[in-house]
Amino acid sequence: MNTAPENDRVVIFDTTLRDGEQSPGASMTLEEKIQVAELLDDMGVDIIEAGFPIASNGDFEAVQEISRRTKNAVVCGLARAGAKDIDRAAEALKPAKQSRIHSFISTSPVHMKFKLQMEADEVFDAVISSVTRARQYTDNVEWSPEDGTRTEHDFLCRCVEAAIKAGATTINIPDTVGYTVPDEYFELITMLRERVPNSDQAVFSTHCHNDLGMAVANSLAGVHAGARQIECTINGLGERAGNAALEEVVMALKTRSDILPYQCGVDTTQIIKASKMVSAVSAFPVQFNKAIVGKNAFAHESGIHQDGMLKNAETYEIMTPESVGLKETSLVMGKHSGRHAFKTKLGDLGYDLGDNAFQDAFRRFKDLADKKKHVYDEDIVALVDDEMGSANDLIKFVSLRVVAGSEGPQEAKMVLDVAGEEKSFTATGDGPVDATFNAIKAIVEHNSTLQLYQVHAVTQGTDAQADVSVRLEENGKTVTGRGADTDTLVASARAYLSALNKLMTKREKTAPEALVAS
Ligand code: KIV
Ligand code: ZN
Repeated sequence: MNTAPENDRVVIFDTTLRDGEQSPGASMTLEEKIQVAELLDDMGVDIIEAGFPIASNGDFEAVQEISRRTKNAVVCGLARAGAKDIDRAAEALKPAKQSRIHSFISTSPVHMKFKLQMEADEVFDAVISSVTRARQYTDNVEWSPEDGTRTEHDFLCRCVEAAIKAGATTINIPDTVGYTVPDEYFELITMLRERVPNSDQAVFSTHCHNDLGMAVANSLAGVHAGARQIECTINGLGERAGNAALEEVVMALKTRSDILPYQCGVDTTQIIKASKMVSAVSAFPVQFNKAIVGKNAFAHESGIHQDGMLKNAETYEIMTPESVGLKETSLVMGKHSGRHAFKTKLGDLGYDLGDNAFQDAFRRFKDLADKKKHVYDEDIVALVDDEMGSANDLIKFVSLRVVAGSEGPQEAKMVLDVAGEEKSFTATGDGPVDATFNAIKAIVEHNSTLQLYQVHAVTQGTDAQADVSVRLEENGKTVTGRGADTDTLVASARAYLSALNKLMTKREKTAPEALVAS
């Protein structure tokens, strides 16, 4: 694909797997990254920044595997200005049909002095050498001046001109600390396009962080000023307050095409699916009133609004729920539903399970239908995701019996299958969840610490399934597990086990030096 856009074509560059995953606690396994990348590719994202290959073996492997599998999008790898970084990125990107190397270095006075401890001239030389080296591997090279919005204009112009001269085809201007405002960012991109003599030889790109809540507004201001690439993440995932949210950018372009006359290639009907997937694998919940993908984004509660909606949806709805892929919750079969109906439903929900996985899922569906009056699509999704996630686990849930309530001690008897051998332990704790986790720790000894424990109801009602997320950390490795069940404690145990199983297989994720890209 030629990433040089037509006049009104805005390239969507997704960095969920790099800048998003970099946010503390949001780390994903290789399988999860592949799953997200496949969906991004399918939904028409132009460029997928798949990781920072020098950062760890895990990042390298993810960029390499995503490069192998991606069909349509350009796969991008991040690199600092050094030769080792660039070589490593190029190596990871080798299998890609279309690849891009994204090299960056800080250019603001505060970053150069304190972070890099380099003089401006040294930074300038590094811009040229890094872009030149990246060009030896690919003719699709992006260069970013980190902390660009706090960089002196004369120096920024010099660096951008040199980067383009050395072969950069995209110039990205990061608002690394989320400091700029729309008018100022508009002026900055305009200034660069006017003052840099060879600016017409590169595509300008926005990369805005959301510290002041203006990442999307700033990105759109950049496009108004002539930028034709927006860097963004699903759900606005990213360090601190996150990055510009892909779904907001894309829906703004679609909904306000009257005053934002630009096109992008994203299939908006896959937005909700992507949001749910990223929220699930990162265990970062989406706030209820989040634009586009929040639970309340299309809910009309007040009487006046409901009345208006019944008369004409346009009274309070600027975009339809269908346009982002939000479907009416539909009632599924109950306990009398058979295998055939269940298989058809799985197909409708986008699952194609092998024989064994199907039998296991069907058995769990039957158990669920016995316990729960109404089984909804969301219940099936939670159940199947939980089942698929645990298919190859070393440690498997067998049973749990808990003593809870106000008259302690709370106690949990946990039975697990550890590599084919059944083991059990009864532990006490400060509450039933603590007792359950203590029992697991006694059976499978490990040193991880619990960083997050989160419970959501999958649907409404007291018989709703609990969807639990657990994040564990051990020696700098962070993993997230999920579990679903109508019993919150069983779901909690499943989530803990899912995280523990991942911890055992996860590769080291340690940076070779302090990695500071944000
Ligand atoms: O925010 C930032 O400056 C970054 C760069 C690496 C592009 O993420
Ligand atoms: Zn960033």
